[in-house]
Amino acid sequence: MQRSRLENRQHGNIWSTFLKRCLLGCSLVCSGLYAAVVIGAEPAQLFEPIRSVLQHPRCQNCHIPGDQPLQYDQGKPHAMLVKRGLDGKGMPAMECSSCHQEKNSHPAMGLHAPPGAPHWQLPSAENKMVFIGLSPKDLCMVLKDPAKNGGRDGQKLIHHFAEDKLVAWGWNPGGNRTLPPLTKQQTVTAVKQWVDAGMPCPA
Ligand code: HEC
Ligand code: HEC
Repeated sequence: MQRSRLENRQHGNIWSTFLKRCLLGCSLVCSGLYAAVVIGAEPAQLFEPIRSVLQHPRCQNCHIPGDQPLQYDQGKPHAMLVKRGLDGKGMPAMECSSCHQEKNSHPAMGLHAPPGAPHWQLPSAENKMVFIGLSPKDLCMVLKDPAKNGGRDGQKLIHHFAEDKLVAWGWNPGGNRTLPPLTKQQTVTAVKQWVDAGMPCPA
C-alpha cells in the first residue's frame, strides 16, 4: 500500500504505471522468444553462413585435397601444371611467388593476370586444410579441430578470418572474379556468433 501510494503520487496516474509494466513485460517476453528462435532453437544453423563462404570458389580453390590449385568459379585445375610442393609454395622454378605478387596485378594487365596477396600459397602437403567437397558437418568438424586447422582455438579462428591476408584477398580478388556470398565483416560476425555458441556443428 505504502509503495503504490508513493507511485501514484509520483506518476499521478495509475494507468501510466500499469502501461509501463505491461510494456516491460511484453518486451521481456518478446526478447525471450526472439532469443529462443534466433539463438537458442537452431544452433546448428550458425555454421551455414560460414560454410557458404568457405565453399565459395574464392576460398575453396586453395583448400583442396589434390596438389594442383584450382582456378575460376568452375574450379578448373591451375594452368601450367602448377603443383603444391611439400610446403605449399610450389615446385622449384614454379613457385607461386614467381607469378603471384603481394598484391593483385594492375588492372591494365587485363582480367587474367595473376592475382596476389602476401604469402600466396597452398596449405602444406602435411595439413591440406581441405574445404572443398565436404558435407556441412564434416567441414564444421575440420574447421574446429586444432589438429587440422593449424592449432587454432575459437579466438584464433576469429582472428584469422579478421586479419589474414589470403582470407582478405577473397573479398578483393581482382579481375572480374566473383565474391563470396557474405561480406568480410558479415563473415567475421558469423564466426564470432558461432564461436560464442560453442562452435556447434550441423547434424
Ligand atoms: C591462395 C590460397 C588461399 C586462398 C585463396 C584462401 N586460403 Fe585459406 N588458407 C591458405 C593457407 C596457405 C592456409 C594455412 C595458413 C596458416 O595456417 O596460417 C589457410 C588457412 C585458412 C584457415 C585456417 C585453417 C582452417 O582450416 O581452419 C581458414 C579458416 C581459412 N584459410 C579460410 C579462408 C577463407 C575464408 C578464404 C576465402 C575468403 C580463404 N581461406 C582463401 C590459403 C588460401
Ligand atoms: C607461371 C605462373 C603461375 C604460377 C607459378 C602460379 N600461378 Fe596461380 N595463377 C596464375 C595466373 C596467371 C592466374 C590467373 C588466371 C586467370 O584468371 O585466368 C592464377 C590464378 C590462381 C588462382 C585462382 C584464383 C581463383 O579463385 O580463380 C589460384 C588459387 C592460384 N593461382 C594459386 C596458385 C598457387 C597456390 C600457386 C603455387 C603453388 C600458383 N598459383 C602458382 C599464374 C601462376
